Amino acid sequence: MSDKFSASNRSQQQKQQKKPSFAYLIEKKRDGGEFTNEEIRQIVDAIMDGEMPEAQQAALAMAIFFKQMTAQETAALAEEMKLSGEELDLNKVRKSKICKISTGGVGDKTTLILAALGAATGVIVPCMGIRDEDFEITTVAKIGALPGVKTKYSLSEYTSLLTRVGAAIVEPDTQVAPADDLLYALRQNTATLPSLPLITASILSKKLAEGCGSLVVDIKWGNGSFVREKEQAKQLARTITRVARAMERKCVALVTDSNQPIGDSVGTALEIREALQLLGGGGLDEIKPKEQDGPPDPLRDQKELVLKLGMELVRLADVAGSTLSAKQTVERACKNGAAQKKLVEILRAQGAKQDWLDDLSKFPETKYTKKLPAPKRGYVHTIDAGKLAAGVKFLATGKDGKVDPYVGITDIRKVGRQVKQGEPLIIVHYNDESRIDAAMQYFRDAYRLAPKRPKDEPLVFERVA
Ligand code: URA
Repeated sequence: MSDKFSASNRSQQQKQQKKPSFAYLIEKKRDGGEFTNEEIRQIVDAIMDGEMPEAQQAALAMAIFFKQMTAQETAALAEEMKLSGEELDLNKVRKSKICKISTGGVGDKTTLILAALGAATGVIVPCMGIRDEDFEITTVAKIGALPGVKTKYSLSEYTSLLTRVGAAIVEPDTQVAPADDLLYALRQNTATLPSLPLITASILSKKLAEGCGSLVVDIKWGNGSFVREKEQAKQLARTITRVARAMERKCVALVTDSNQPIGDSVGTALEIREALQLLGGGGLDEIKPKEQDGPPDPLRDQKELVLKLGMELVRLADVAGSTLSAKQTVERACKNGAAQKKLVEILRAQGAKQDWLDDLSKFPETKYTKKLPAPKRGYVHTIDAGKLAAGVKFLATGKDGKVDPYVGITDIRKVGRQVKQGEPLIIVHYNDESRIDAAMQYFRDAYRLAPKRPKDEPLVFERVA
C-alpha cells in the first residue's frame, strides 16, 4: 500500500516537473514586478512549445495589461518573438533598410508612395503587411486587387525582390515571428489587444524580423485606425520609439489624425492611380495653406503626410542630413519622376501588366458612377472613415470574394467643407448594380453635416523621436 502510494506520488511529482507551473510569473507581474530577460524567454518558449496552460497565458496577458511592461521588458519580448521564427537576411545589401509602419488609415497612399520614394533614393523599404482592422483596405490589398499581381512570396523571393527593386509589398508570412501570432490570438480572446507594450512588441518583432534598421511610424488615431483615442496614440508613439531605442534602432513616430479619408479616393486601383498622379503632378511644394482662397487641394493632406514622413525616412536613412536637404530630397524625387517610375517598377516586378500604369489616361472607368448628394446645406462635420472603407469593400467584393479593382469613391468632400443641399459629397464608381443601394447606405451613414464649421484639427499632431 505504502509502496503503491509512494509510486503514484512519485509519478505525480514527475508530471509536475515535466509541466512547470508559471504561477510565480503571473504573481510577479500581478504585483507590479519587472521580468528579467530570462523570464521573458521562458514565457515565449513556453507559449511556443504549448507548455503554458491557456488559463495561465490568459492570466499573464491580463496581468501585463494592467501592470504594463518597462521599455526593457517590451524590448526583450519583441526580441524573443522575433527569434521565434525566420528572419530576412538583408545584411549583404549595403543600403539603409527603413520600414514605414502605420496603425490604420483610409484612403492613405503614403506607404505606396514612400516605398517608391525610398527605393528611388537608394533605400531598401520592406513592406510586409501587419495586422489591420477589418474595414481597412491594406496596401497589400490595394496592389493585390490588380489582376496578375502577386503578393504572396517565400522569404527568399521577398529578399531577392527587395534586393533587386528596393521595395516590395507582400502579405504577412506565418514563418515570421510566429510567437506573435499565438500571442495575438490570445490577446483577441482575453480583451488585452489594446495593451501598449503588447502592441509595441507585436509590431517591432515582425518589423525587425523583416530586417528593418530604422523605423518611421505613423500612429494614426481616430475612426480610421485601431487606435481610437488621441491620448492613446501619443502614448503608443512614446512606447514604440522608447522600445525601438532600447533595441538600438532609430525610430521616429508622428501622431496623425485619421478621422477622415486621406487624399481624394478610397479603393484599390483608384488609390494606385492617385499615388501615381501625386508623384507625377508637379511635386509636393505646391501644398497650399488651408486658408488660401480658391478650391481646396484635395490631395493636401496626402501631400503633407508624404512630405513629413518622407523627410523622416530620408533622414533616418542618411540620404539627407539637414531638415532642408530632407525636404529637397523628397520634393525632388516626387518632382523629377523618379519615385513615380519606381512605383511602376515595384508593381511590374510583382506582376502588374496594366498599360494605364504608364499612361494614366488609359485608366478604365467603371460602367456606372453615382453621386452621394448632401442631404442639406451645411459643413461636413464628421466623416466615419471606417464606414466609407467598409462601404467600398462591400461594393468592390464579388460573391466569389474577388475584388473589382476599379470600384471605389473619389471627389471626397472633407471635414470643414461647406456644401449646398444636393451637392455631391463623394462620387461612387461601380460595376455591380445589385450592391449599390446597400453600399450607398454605408456612405450616407458615414457623413454628418452641421450648420457650424467644425474645429480645425491638425493632421500631424505630434512628433516623437
Ligand atoms: N498590429 C500588429 O501587428 N499588432 C498589434 O498588436 C496591433 C496591430
